[in-house]
Amino acid sequence: MEDMSRYPLQLEGADVPMVSFKNVTKAYGSLTVLENLDLDIREGEMVSVIGPSGSGKTTVLRMLMLERIQQGVIYVNGKPITHMEKNGGLVPADDKYLRKAREPIGMCFQHFNLFPHMTALQNCMEGPVQVLGMSKRAARERSEDLLELVGMIDKKDQHPSRLSGGQQQRVAIARALAMRPKVMLFDEVTSALDPEVIGEVTNVIKKLVAEHNLTMLMVTHQMGFAKDISDRVCFFFGGKIEEQGPPEQLFDHPQKERTQQFLSAVKSAD
Ligand SMILES: Nc1ncnc2c1ncn2[C@@H]1O[C@H](COP(=O)(O)OP(=O)(O)OP(=O)(O)O)[C@@H](O)[C@H]1O
Ligand SMILES: [Mg+2]
Repeated sequence: MEDMSRYPLQLEGADVPMVSFKNVTKAYGSLTVLENLDLDIREGEMVSVIGPSGSGKTTVLRMLMLERIQQGVIYVNGKPITHMEKNGGLVPADDKYLRKAREPIGMCFQHFNLFPHMTALQNCMEGPVQVLGMSKRAARERSEDLLELVGMIDKKDQHPSRLSGGQQQRVAIARALAMRPKVMLFDEVTSALDPEVIGEVTNVIKKLVAEHNLTMLMVTHQMGFAKDISDRVCFFFGGKIEEQGPPEQLFDHPQKERTQQFLSAVKSAD
């Protein structure tokens, strides 16, 4: 068992990051997928995660939403989400605590998985009504505002099967935002889309970055997009952050050989 006394019960001070991974290790059986990961994301920051297939990018996001970790602690807004306090120390969180602790986190993944039997509007209203206990009227108002934001208000009464991939993904983003997350996670949200609709979705994310003080962690294989909108880019390799920095530095002046190799490989594939 890990000695948990090295981790604070809460992060305190003026500069508490919105998300903080402390010494996080994740393994599946004998395969260690993330190793002693330390990563702080400040409020309102847009951090992109790039790296080769299998380097642990999706796993980083999954740790915030779905999975238990073997070592370390993850804090959101200063509070541990992987652990809870008991008798003055940290113990692994139980399911009830986990559900509550993850409320400030929203996610959008490659396969948007809208509820097929519900319209775009109903998809957005479902969480606020069922999970947050909002009135239908308030949930509708909020959902309509968000569908407006993502440019889908005209199609609010359509079912997903009648929408293009880009349109479905925009509804999925609105649906996630309807829960008013403090942190949004995006995992390759454009990679299942036809090239002609990718821009619709990246424009919505750009708008979120420009107009909303959301903290975002985005896995992407679109280097131009990452360069364009990120405050910071993290290059993952073998379950670790090999190199990170502001986009101009990481893309134009990578320091590590592996970063250079990866970037020149994706450039020649473009
Ligand atoms: N549920 C699981 N059980 C066992 N191994 C897993 C599981 N999920 C992920 N892995 C392994 O963890 C490693 C990292 O996977 P991850 O999905 O984070 O990679 P990635 O960087 O997102 O790759 P890609 O660019 O292909 O999406 C891989 O070796 C993968 O096979
Ligand atoms: Mg992945």
